[in-house]
Amino acid sequence: MASASFTAAVAVALCALLSLAEVCEEHSDTSLLQGHFAAVSPHAVEQQHSSLRQDKEKWPLSGETHILSEEETAEYSSWFTSDLLPKWENRNLESTWKLQTTITIKQPAQTVFDAIMTSNMWPVCYPNTLSVGGFSHQPFTPETPAGMILEKFLWAGAFYSLFRYQVEDYQPPSFATFDGAIIFSVGDVIAQDAVDTIGGRFQYNLTSTGPNETSWTRTVYFYQDKSATLLQQTAFATMMNTVIFPAQKKGAPQYVNCAKIFLETPGWERELWGSSK
Ligand SMILES: *[C@@H]1O[C@H](CO)[C@@H](O)[C@H](O)[C@H]1NC(C)=O
Ligand SMILES: *[C@@H]1O[C@H](CO)[C@@H](O)[C@H](O)[C@H]1NC(C)=O
Repeated sequence: MASASFTAAVAVALCALLSLAEVCEEHSDTSLLQGHFAAVSPHAVEQQHSSLRQDKEKWPLSGETHILSEEETAEYSSWFTSDLLPKWENRNLESTWKLQTTITIKQPAQTVFDAIMTSNMWPVCYPNTLSVGGFSHQPFTPETPAGMILEKFLWAGAFYSLFRYQVEDYQPPSFATFDGAIIFSVGDVIAQDAVDTIGGRFQYNLTSTGPNETSWTRTVYFYQDKSATLLQQTAFATMMNTVIFPAQKKGAPQYVNCAKIFLETPGWERELWGSSK
């Protein structure tokens, strides 16, 4: 029962992600991709049944050589570096979800600030982060190059995405924000426009509550920008309601509590920063 509703939720999420609501209504989740490809290219699928290997030109799985032009290379590369602040500023307030947690950690504010601004904290403590890339063993700052704060993330244990982040506000040890976007995900090639409308922002507020005690409020926003179509808005709302927000409501308190336990345990500096600090 629980597993069936989970499967249904995941199917809904995949439909939403792909923005193929019409296809999802007519096909089971397993035939979703085939359905899409059939819709895109009915001939390729028909020919599979007749002369599969006779005509190598039409065999859909035959190899190809493609040389990307400098323009194509630049287009794909720009996903690592394009500015995310305008996207946040163009967010649709009606498609903005907010989640806040507060926890007290027995460490000075600057120590907590440096630790939670180090992306290696995510695989240590965030349940869905598989690993991080770029600069991960030192605190990130506005000087960290664009595209060099990377997170490899598994949605609900099922769909992989690569996120990248960019620091906006930076007032150590009390305040910081950073913006995130998906730059690689399951289904993105056929639903790139839908994925591009989605963004996230993290806001960290720290207050000293004693000589060795800091209160950390972590606020996370998930949003769609105003370029989203009505169908994409519906798909995003469905995906947030069924899979993403419930998982975040569980993950956020687990994450801050893990960070607290970690930062109050001797030896954490070496575990987080390796030999760099
Ligand atoms: C965090 O700090 C910012 C900047 O000072 C402020 O605008 C915001 O209201 C604060 N948020 C919380 C939850 O304390
Ligand atoms: C702060 O408290 C933590 C946890 O009790 C302890 O490990 C750490 O040494 C303390 N730091 C200072 C500067 O007192």
